[in-house]
Amino acid sequence: MKIAFIGGGNMGEAMLSAILKAGLTPPHAISVSDISEARRRHLGQTYGVTVTEGNLEALSQSDVVVLAIKPQNLAEVMAEIGGKLKASQLVISIIAGARLKTLRQGLKHKTIVRAMPNTPAQIGQGITIWTATPEVTEPQKGWAGAILGVMGQQVYVADEEYLDMATAVSGSGPAYVFLFMESLIDAAVGIGLPRDMARQLVLETVLGSADFARQSEKSLDELRRIVTSPGGTTAEALKVLEKGGFAEVIKQAVLAAFIKARELGG
Ligand SMILES: NC(=O)c1ccc[n+]([C@@H]2O[C@H](COP(=O)([O-])OP(=O)(O)OC[C@H]3O[C@@H](n4cnc5c(N)ncnc54)[C@H](OP(=O)(O)O)[C@@H]3O)[C@@H](O)[C@H]2O)c1
Repeated sequence: MKIAFIGGGNMGEAMLSAILKAGLTPPHAISVSDISEARRRHLGQTYGVTVTEGNLEALSQSDVVVLAIKPQNLAEVMAEIGGKLKASQLVISIIAGARLKTLRQGLKHKTIVRAMPNTPAQIGQGITIWTATPEVTEPQKGWAGAILGVMGQQVYVADEEYLDMATAVSGSGPAYVFLFMESLIDAAVGIGLPRDMARQLVLETVLGSADFARQSEKSLDELRRIVTSPGGTTAEALKVLEKGGFAEVIKQAVLAAFIKARELGG
């Protein structure tokens, strides 16, 4: 399978390095176009992939074309490559907020996958939600699943609306988790723990709790209750979180992200 990347920035690199690591396709079958000379040199030297300045040149021989540019560069790229893709080529866009309808019109192309990865994809532990136009064939869906699956888990949804919802949950979600961890570390330092130790305690607590929840057959609610002995320390902390409207604030934050994702997609 020959894969072209239009844009070889953070996500483009994360995807192509994961593809190579998984042995999905060899370096010579990957071409990357990027306007940045420094990025081209870095990707060519690090991974042995073919690099070029020309977007059309990169995609000319490929079966799959991954759009990994920033949303603000989408219009110029669509103006350049629109109408120049072969009907057999599958486009996979990871551009946040770019709807299938916009991509379809701008690219003058029918077989398109829209995917929403998240930053842990950069270490192969992301989760990607994706959907496809009706013209995408079953074998092409198989390719898309395989390509997106190298970055972690992948979930296909038939309804594009779920992508905006997922953007507000798993797309932006790492930032919520990082903020929670930052706050917990600051609070730990506030009661006297050295910062290094606080960081280690918080990271392992979040990681361990997530893994425990994933492996356990108990619900999150049950797991929470197991930690919370009546009249104990956890109960005191949870009372404060509840009084401060913790769950309600999270709800409002996710709703705000969802509304914004819809606005960005037009
Ligand atoms: N980072 C994430 O976790 C994440 C998660 C989900 C979705 N996404 C989506 O992934 C996309 C890429 O994000 P990123 O963080 O990888 O961005 P990025 O690091 O800025 O990468 C984009 C690359 O494309 C290059 N570029 C700009 N205009 C171009 C053009 N006309 N032709 C070819 N290359 C061009 C940029 O060069 P210059 O820097 O010189 O402009 C840059 O090297 C975004 O649309 C974002 O919404 C990212």
